[in-house]
Amino acid sequence: MDKSKIIQAPKGTFDILPTEQKYWEKVRRVVALVGAQYGFERIDTPIFEGTDLFERSVGQETDIVEKQMYTFKTKGKDSLTLRPEGTASVVRSYIENGLNSWPQPVRLYYVGPMFRYEQPQSERYRQFHQFGFELIGDSHPIYDAWLINIALVALRELGLHKTVVAINSIGDAKCRPVYRKALVAYYKNKVGQLCEDCKRRYKTNPLRLLDCKEHHCSEVAAKAPNLVDHLCEECRNHFKSVLEYLDEQKISYMLNPHLVRGLDYYTKTVFQLYAEESLEILSGNSNSHKNPLELGGGGRYDMLAQQLGGKNTPALGFAMGIERIISLMRKNNIKVSELKKPEVFLVQLGELGRKKSLTLFEKLREGGIDVVESFGRDNIKSQLRAADKIKVRYAVIVGQKEALEEAAIIREMTSGTQETIPFDKIVNELKKRLRQAPPVSS
Ligand code: HAM
Repeated sequence: MDKSKIIQAPKGTFDILPTEQKYWEKVRRVVALVGAQYGFERIDTPIFEGTDLFERSVGQETDIVEKQMYTFKTKGKDSLTLRPEGTASVVRSYIENGLNSWPQPVRLYYVGPMFRYEQPQSERYRQFHQFGFELIGDSHPIYDAWLINIALVALRELGLHKTVVAINSIGDAKCRPVYRKALVAYYKNKVGQLCEDCKRRYKTNPLRLLDCKEHHCSEVAAKAPNLVDHLCEECRNHFKSVLEYLDEQKISYMLNPHLVRGLDYYTKTVFQLYAEESLEILSGNSNSHKNPLELGGGGRYDMLAQQLGGKNTPALGFAMGIERIISLMRKNNIKVSELKKPEVFLVQLGELGRKKSLTLFEKLREGGIDVVESFGRDNIKSQLRAADKIKVRYAVIVGQKEALEEAAIIREMTSGTQETIPFDKIVNELKKRLRQAPPVSS
């Protein structure tokens, strides 16, 4: 095999093989279940959008827009971008489809792939998947705390009970400029030590300085003034209420005064959820330079609808990284049931048996029996070995003789006992047997 000629999946992407699908199916099932329980309905938006949607929402000065977007020109010269996240599209859809005429708040959830041109590393991909919940049309702080609860419930339903919530408030259009001034003053004689991106952002969008992942920049950011100390009365009260509603739900959290998140559309509450193993890193008790494992994040984005040309509409939401969740489920040995457990293996012998097994397969399928075929094989031993391997309870064997009689042999795999049954009785007979508890194997 000439390895140089083998085409590989693009860097930062991967295949989800059949053996992995049970985890993905479990996540989708839990998201749909939790969504329904909390009154959220599914929305699907296009995988690509006009580039300006993300420039105007996520923000020109963010890592995502500056460095990570898959942007391309169409033949019609439109600039399109593979969506790097889901919130902007959901709000675009809310405005475009007049969802403000629905009973408010509108509650929507989504599941799907997102694309960011990142340096691939552990748990960081270029195509990854999120599920997200958005609640549009209400400003009450109870929803901020409720949504955090929903995120935690979803994780618990997936077997992840130990997670850490970090929370902060980044204020609004009234108080952010005040904080911005304090931040600029703090950085004034430190700009020279920062990375090139931060030097630029110092002038254009200083809040982003708190978000830089460069080691030295984050050390400088750690000593920067706190946002919460500069909140206006409205934002302070809002944040206080969010924390009280969290207490009411017995949700513990870490206040992180430097949490700003990497997207520009947030106002007031922002939060992130981490795997418990990241607690040491988060509380500064670890010497490791590893980043904590962020499972998800979100917050309020009260200005976004207006920024995108809609009415003034308060809103909030969160999104979780599915790859990271599944990787944690596997690490914690969380059991997930197989998608399909075949019950019957169809064995055929000779050409006539093969032909008849086509019709018999359909009969069994229509009868609701999970059946596996091996049409291409001839040898009975190898077929029974294959049946044994996937641990079916019964093999149904159509040999030359049985085929002529329009019948098949039902073989109980553990005991080896066999009985010939006519085709037209076989579904009922198998159903009857499958309903009975399997014999205890010695
Ligand atoms: P985000 O923090 O950019 O927020 O992404 C949410 C989650 O997606 C992250 O916490 C992480 O688990 C996962 N994620 C992000 N990038 C990658 C990557 N390259 N590889 C693997 N996983 C990744 C948002 O996207 C916001 N739209 C969340 C939100 C919804 N805010 C309000 N509503």
